[in-house]
Amino acid sequence: MIKISTVTKISGKSDTLVCLVRGASVPRIGPDLDRQLAALIEQARLSGDFEGKKGQVLIAYPAAGKGPASQVRRLLVVGLGPAAIDREGWRQAGGAVAGQLLKTRAEEATIVVPDLEGAEALTPVAAGALAEGLLLGSYRFRKYRSSGAAKPETEPEENSEEREPLLRRVSIAGPRGIAGAVDQATALAAAVWTARDMANEPGNGWTPDDFAAYGRQLARQYNLKATIIDRAAMARLGMGGILAVNQGSARPPRLVILEYRAETARSGRRDRKSDSPGKVPTLLLVGKGLTFDSGGISLKPSSGMEEMKYDMCGGAAVLAAMAVIGREKPEGINVVAMVPATENLPGPAALKPGDIIRQYGGKSVEVINTDAEGRLILADALAYGVEKFEPAAVIDLATLTGAVIIGLGHHYAGLLGNDDGLCARVQAAGEEAGEPLWRLPLGPEYRKQLKSKVADLKNVDKRDAGTILAAEFLQEFVGDTPWVHLDIAGTAWNFTEKSYVPKGPSGFGVRTLVELIRQWSQPAGKP
Ligand code: BES
Ligand code: MN
Ligand code: ZN
Repeated sequence: MIKISTVTKISGKSDTLVCLVRGASVPRIGPDLDRQLAALIEQARLSGDFEGKKGQVLIAYPAAGKGPASQVRRLLVVGLGPAAIDREGWRQAGGAVAGQLLKTRAEEATIVVPDLEGAEALTPVAAGALAEGLLLGSYRFRKYRSSGAAKPETEPEENSEEREPLLRRVSIAGPRGIAGAVDQATALAAAVWTARDMANEPGNGWTPDDFAAYGRQLARQYNLKATIIDRAAMARLGMGGILAVNQGSARPPRLVILEYRAETARSGRRDRKSDSPGKVPTLLLVGKGLTFDSGGISLKPSSGMEEMKYDMCGGAAVLAAMAVIGREKPEGINVVAMVPATENLPGPAALKPGDIIRQYGGKSVEVINTDAEGRLILADALAYGVEKFEPAAVIDLATLTGAVIIGLGHHYAGLLGNDDGLCARVQAAGEEAGEPLWRLPLGPEYRKQLKSKVADLKNVDKRDAGTILAAEFLQEFVGDTPWVHLDIAGTAWNFTEKSYVPKGPSGFGVRTLVELIRQWSQPAGKP
């Protein structure tokens, strides 16, 4: 990951100076921008070549001069558009800058916003979002490419995306107060990178055991508690859903549990809020960790099946978010993450359509379609987690249904829940985080569609309202606990094309969860 730092004024030498300018405003000459550079931008503007439109780019190679900024090798001017921009606008600006810097083969850059000074100067929120966009936009997954290998001569050289990125360091120039926000954004972006890395790994590169190992690593690193429930323990506990889905796989299942407790987080300190009457509320996060979903005996068509290595993106988001929680140690909230992890494969011992299984807690389920496996593993985790941790709220994230892609495409994740307050709160966090969520209804008329003749419920009905039925199924296992389900099948990869969302897995959900928990732990926030 690029190293981002902050500076209060730019130093003489810089590989690339990036100026973010707002619309038609004339860049101000100040400590950051000397007369020569300002004149350069102005000249481009007068010629009509640069209007400061959003995402518009101007590259210039200034002659060496005496001013503070004129020893730069390369000047990159990026337009912010005419109006003031919000967090999402800053993220997108950061992504646009990242894209340009990777293209220009810059190694080191300094970013200034010469149009924003005084009261308007880069705020911590803006600087954080800018850093977030920069880092998220510069993500690439190259682990399995042999670098340095001779390339065929026919390969177009100008395709700079193909070359190794050089960019190492970026400084953001701004008031002293932005450093904390930039640090927070860096930690958040690192978590999103981790979630994307896990998702990019193929089914043979990221297994249930890898989820367990990562959970243990986070526990060591941040003093969290990790518990790994293995097959034998699942059998003892009666987690028939995970076990059933796992039957066709040669890899054993894992249920990874990671606990952050505000009370004991910082040694020697009792949590402020835990001193007040009542205990610290627990937020339970559950993420679907299907490391490969073939459909099982209800086998999926082979075309596009390789994408089902992404069926663990919910689990990835939940664990990655815990890395930020572990680092920030929020007060006034406990967070427990659970990831039921297994493959869904056909095999001689595989679960069959018609089989009846027993979920954790005793409910029986008639499995009509073995490809509706996500709900079976989530049900065990939800029922167990609600019983064991008595959470004040539960949020689950899952690439659960193709139907959510039919309904919402790749631009919104589906949000369903049993508590209007919690739904609104999660939706607002998603909005702030740049991860849009759209609520879909639940209701007894839908629940009726899951009635089985032979068991307490069946796992699918006809195709109608597939996303809602999946959520109705999950709802059976959370009791009265306030609960929100996010169906991220459309957004976990192929998420809306944006400057800071490269192709492939998006890490969707990490930022919403972290935003929610940060708000929750503010003095004004309450569960
Ligand atoms: N993992 C899939 C959902 C999915 C589909 C995610 C496409 C991303 C892209 C899930 O396990 C699944 O197979 N769901 C079935 C449910 C059906 C059998 C009721 C689906 O959506 O087709
Ligand atoms: Mn499936
Ligand atoms: Zn699945």
